[in-house]
Amino acid sequence: MKRSRMVGIAAGVLVAMQLVPLSRTNPPVEGALAAPPEVQAILDRSCMDCHSHATRWPWYAWAAPVSWLVVYDVHHGRDHVNFSRWSSYSAKQQRHKLDEMVEMVEDGEMPLTPYLWLHREAELSQADRELLVSFAETRTPVRESDEEPAASPHEDHEHQHQH
Ligand code: HEC
Repeated sequence: MKRSRMVGIAAGVLVAMQLVPLSRTNPPVEGALAAPPEVQAILDRSCMDCHSHATRWPWYAWAAPVSWLVVYDVHHGRDHVNFSRWSSYSAKQQRHKLDEMVEMVEDGEMPLTPYLWLHREAELSQADRELLVSFAETRTPVRESDEEPAASPHEDHEHQHQH
């Protein structure tokens, strides 16, 4: 095949890719997680693009095929943890998500690495990590009635039976 023809086909494919419909919406916030300002600042900088309805869609969110990854990450991220729909979670779900948050942040798994390539400012410092972890560890879920207070006899009891 002639080189010019191949370039033509590649360009055609690239153009066609742009036509795949993607949903890039920021639905209204319904019950955001309330965090102290210093924690909120870290979440805003490093997490909210994928875990809230306050996504700052970058220009390449309109450039396929990169946009497919961006849109996938945002939808997938929101499905796992959505700080803009925090109060829709039960206390148990909130506790679970906070525990996951501790794990992800301590293991350096969040923010996702490809995101950091394009968002250097989102990288967490050691101090950021410590703040986020201590926030997530001590944060009481909103519907407290569903939860035992920390270090209750019930909790000790549960620990004894962990396998
Ligand atoms: C580029 C998008 C992106 C950014 C930025 C991001 N995440 Fe995520 N996050 C995801 C995706 C996608 C998933 C789900 C898939 C996975 O587990 O890899 C996820 C999953 C999670 C989970 C749930 C893990 C589980 O097993 O259910 C937690 C907790 C989390 N992220 C916390 C954070 C925190 C805290 C930050 C900021 C420090 C952050 N994320 C930044 C995309 C992102």
